[in-house]
Order: sequence, then C-alpha cells, then structure tokens
Amino acid sequence: MSVFVDGLLRGQVALVTGGGSGIGAGIAVRLAKQGAKVALLGRTAEKLTNIAKIIGDAGGDAMTLPCDVRQAALLDTAVSEVVQKWGRLDILVNSAAGNFLSPAAALSANGFRAVIDIDLCGTFNACRAAFPHLEKNGGNIVNITATQANIPTPLQCHAGAAKAGIEKLTRDLALEWARMKIRVNAVAPGPIEGTEGMSRLAPQGEAAETLRKRVPLGRWGTIEEICETVTFLVSPAGAYVTGTTFLVDGGTSLLGAAPFLELMV
Ligand code: HXC
Ligand code: NAP
Repeated sequence: MSVFVDGLLRGQVALVTGGGSGIGAGIAVRLAKQGAKVALLGRTAEKLTNIAKIIGDAGGDAMTLPCDVRQAALLDTAVSEVVQKWGRLDILVNSAAGNFLSPAAALSANGFRAVIDIDLCGTFNACRAAFPHLEKNGGNIVNITATQANIPTPLQCHAGAAKAGIEKLTRDLALEWARMKIRVNAVAPGPIEGTEGMSRLAPQGEAAETLRKRVPLGRWGTIEEICETVTFLVSPAGAYVTGTTFLVDGGTSLLGAAPFLELMV
C-alpha cells in the first residue's frame, strides 16, 4: 500500500516509456492511482493494451502509444498525440530498456549499440520530444537507471555504459531546464523481484539465493518500492530535488562489485 495520498497527481498527464511491463508498468499504474492520466509507450501494442485495461478498470485514464524509442520522429508524433488528447504533459518517466548478459569480448558492435540506442538515445529522444510541452507549466522527468551505472559489473558493459550516460544526461538536463521549472531526476533500482530484467540477468536456484543474501537488506526489492520513490520525486514532496539519482537498491551499491561477481560463474 502506498504511503502517498491517492489523487495527489490529479489533473496531471504522464507518459511512461516501457510502460507495458515490469517496473514501467508498475509506475504507470501507480501514477494513474495518484490521479494522473497516463500514456503507455513501448513496441508491443498488446502489452500496452493490457496495462491500459488495468488502469481503465480501476477508473483511471490511459492511452497506448506503440512506438520504438529509437525512432525520434515517431516519438515526437507520439508525444503530440498525448497533448492532442489530454491538452498537456507534466510527467515523463523513461523506463524503456534492453539488456542481456554478454562478455565484453564476445559482444558485437551492433549488440553494444542496440542497448545504447534503446536506453541512452531513447531517453534523450523522449526528453527532447517532451520538452516543449513540459516547459509550458513546469514538470518532471524521471529516468530509470541501474546500479551498474556506477559499479563495475561483469557481462554488463553495454548496459552500464548506457545507464551511466543517462545519469549524466539527467544532471545536464536538470541544470539546463531548471529555469523552466522542469525537474529531472533518476532512480537506480537494485535487483527487483519478478521482472524481465532479473529473469535475464540472474542465475536461477541456489545461485540466485546466494545473490539475494548478498544484498545488505537480505532480499531483492519490489516494483512497488520503485514506485514509491518515483511518486515522491514527481510530487510536491520532491519540489526542491533535481539532478539526483536515487539509489533504491537495498544497500547493494555499498558493496561495490561484490554481489555481481556471481554473474561470472
Ligand atoms: C549477445 C545479443 C544478445 C545476447 C541480442 N544481441 N541479444 N548479443 N547476447 N543475448 C545482439 C544481436 O546479436 C544483435 O547484434 C544486436 O544485439 C541487436 O539485436 P536485435 O535482436 O536485432 O535487437 P533488438 O530487436 O533491437 O533487441 C534489443 C535487445 C532485446 C536488447 C537485444 O533483448 C530487447 O529488445 N529487450 C527488451 C526487453 C529487455 O531487455 N528488458 C530487460 C531490461 S532490464 P548483431 O551483431 O548480431 O547484429 C535491465 C536490468 C538492469 O536493463 C539491471 C538489473 C540489476
Ligand atoms: P522490462 O519489463 O523488459 O521493461 C522494459 C520495457 O521497455 C518493456 O516493456 C519493453 O517493451 C520496453 N522497450 C524495450 N525496448 C524498447 C524500445 N526500443 N522502444 C520502446 N520500448 C522498449 O524490464 P524491467 O526489468 O521492468 O526494467 C525496467 C527498467 O528498470 C529498465 O530501465 C531497466 O534497465 C531498469 N532496471 C531494472 C532492474 C530489475 O531488477 N529488473 C534493475 C535495475 C534497473 P517492448 O519490448 O514491448 O518494447
């Protein structure tokens, strides 16, 4: 259950990339619960429709935007559709990402580029497309990164580089756009239970248990716990916060690379 008052974001319009599944879907549902109208963007229409139905059935407003974040022109069109339908845009959450495990030496140039294109360029494309609308009333951008942005992580050089780039972009945009009352922050989750990300990255069985116990708080996090931080950042409670990355990782980063060394076996 959220610690925030339902309806906190009434009257606001949000766009969530990667909103069709996992952490992005959780954030979209949470923003809708707080009263925002929510546009869901991702490549797979069916995934978006499923989440829009969950929001609609709960009495919220949602629309779907099947689109690839790598296609800047299509993102401009998608954002225009949102503004045409609901008249404004207040919140952008960038959660779309691609990831897989690969040793750096075995990763093709195209494999490296695919992840940079989706995560880093996709985040920039969405921010740039949203800017003309966010600047009208002020607004919020939250970029979902990962602890690999700062912790050297085996088999993750592509995702780590992309997320580090997003964290730098977050600070640059926060500074450039502060004057327009646009706050730009990032949230870096640690390992989150029940997500596509962890099913791709974590070993199964006993090794997964070892990885869990290595987290200082002794467990993986939940999608809800990421939603709490995003809600804080976009709400008036976060009004003086911009240019930061919030670690929501159960203390994983305190250990540096240690918890990730299991990925090598
Ligand atoms: C090595 C791989 C690979 C793999 C793809 N590639 N999968 N290389 N190991 N497992 C290479 C391909 O060979 C190709 O290079 C290049 O990447 C592009 O592949 P495509 O399939 O053509 O790309 P595309 O359709 O654009 O798919 C992008 C993707 C895909 C990233 C590869 O997995 C995807 O779309 N994923 C979206 C969902 C997702 O990943 N969710 C998890 C996010 S979680 P060549 O040279 O052959 O052309 C996350 C967790 C963070 O980020 C942290 C947790 C702690
Ligand atoms: P997920 O369910 O796979 O979410 C990623 C979403 O991005 C999917 O809905 C995917 O939908 C969409 N997407 C991928 N490529 C896209 C593209 N080119 N254009 C538009 N949308 C695209 O994975 P998740 O684990 O919840 O991850 C969500 C976010 O949290 C990511 O940014 C990830 O890096 C971050 N994160 C996750 C964890 C974790 O433990 N899971 C930890 C740290 C950080 P389509 O494929 O249909 O487009």
